[in-house]
Amino acid sequence: MSEHEYAFVREAFDSNYIAPLGPMVDAFESEFCAKIGISYAVALISGTAALHLALQMVGVKPGDEVWTSTLTFIGSVSPINYLGARPVFVDSDRGTWNMDPELLAKELEKRADRGILPRALVLVHLYGQCADIVPIVKTCEHYGVALVEDAAEALGATYGESSAGTLGKVGIFSFNGNKIITTSGGGMLVSDDESLVNQARMLAAQARDPAPHYEHSQIGFNYRMSNILAAIGRGQLRVLDERVEAKRKIFDFYQKALGDVPGIEFMPEAPYGVSNRWLTVILISPEEFGVNHETVRLALEAQDIESRPIWKPMHLQPVFKGYECIGGKVAEALFSKGLCLPSGTAMTPEDINRVIEIILKCRE
Ligand SMILES: Cc1ncc(COP(=O)(O)O)c(C=O)c1O
Repeated sequence: MSEHEYAFVREAFDSNYIAPLGPMVDAFESEFCAKIGISYAVALISGTAALHLALQMVGVKPGDEVWTSTLTFIGSVSPINYLGARPVFVDSDRGTWNMDPELLAKELEKRADRGILPRALVLVHLYGQCADIVPIVKTCEHYGVALVEDAAEALGATYGESSAGTLGKVGIFSFNGNKIITTSGGGMLVSDDESLVNQARMLAAQARDPAPHYEHSQIGFNYRMSNILAAIGRGQLRVLDERVEAKRKIFDFYQKALGDVPGIEFMPEAPYGVSNRWLTVILISPEEFGVNHETVRLALEAQDIESRPIWKPMHLQPVFKGYECIGGKVAEALFSKGLCLPSGTAMTPEDINRVIEIILKCRE
């Protein structure tokens, strides 16, 4: 937390608006829109809930195919299954680790010939770096596939002049406790389409029709963010730029110390944008480094320091056994070597140096 949240939470308490609506929610939504440059937003209980609504808003129905990145967290995928649709996974580009735009275009061309196109594409911006979205927007427009941006990890990242999450039909963000800014748990759905956001807002509040009594003509959800959590979000939004700067500094610090070590490779930054460097992620090649990423993880764990293997690709998850994956070898290779290093913005240079020393010691 920064110095701002407490004042907003206090204001929320003083107003006695302890509900899943209220002035803090309205203000958080409008400040969020202004920050990322989009017209409409609805604050929700999680990024997963936001994606669930987003997919419903672009017309995903039972039996549809929805394509998404294989190298991601399951929150990008489970809402596809909630709707009775079927996820199809797409491999990464080795240069950005995000969805490969050429592979996507080639595969959609083949599917169009066969007359089976996905209803939607969930494009993930991995570890705070935008996917190469402009060619993907064109491809999706060409084939009539609705583009949903999963920017859960990428708040504060940019593609050219645009913020992550603002170039698709709809975008979603997460404020889970581990994200670059947090409300302890929460999410946001954004779009330039006013009626889409209004419809999502209505469904998120139990699909209540306008009437003095409780009237329902659709099934909705209880997905609205509370006024208290929105107060935290408003405080956090004020330090987003600082957080991005701090995250990028942490990455640079690691890279300076480890960038020339044989067998260590850092997640590249694509030339089209600026990553928020949510996590500093490295690949460790055991042939050159001497030991593998798991040995390094265990050495850190022995010193009470948490690091994590990168996301296990979705096509390798037991729950998605038998699901289709287009390619997959790039994501598998990244998973076999990838390690997320401690990247909390409260880390001091001494803390980072401690991690670096342990990593380097692993070679001995
Ligand atoms: C890429 C991605 N998508 C979706 C989610 C889901 O967000 P939430 O945890 O807020 O439901 C997360 C993270 O948690 C994520 O990293």
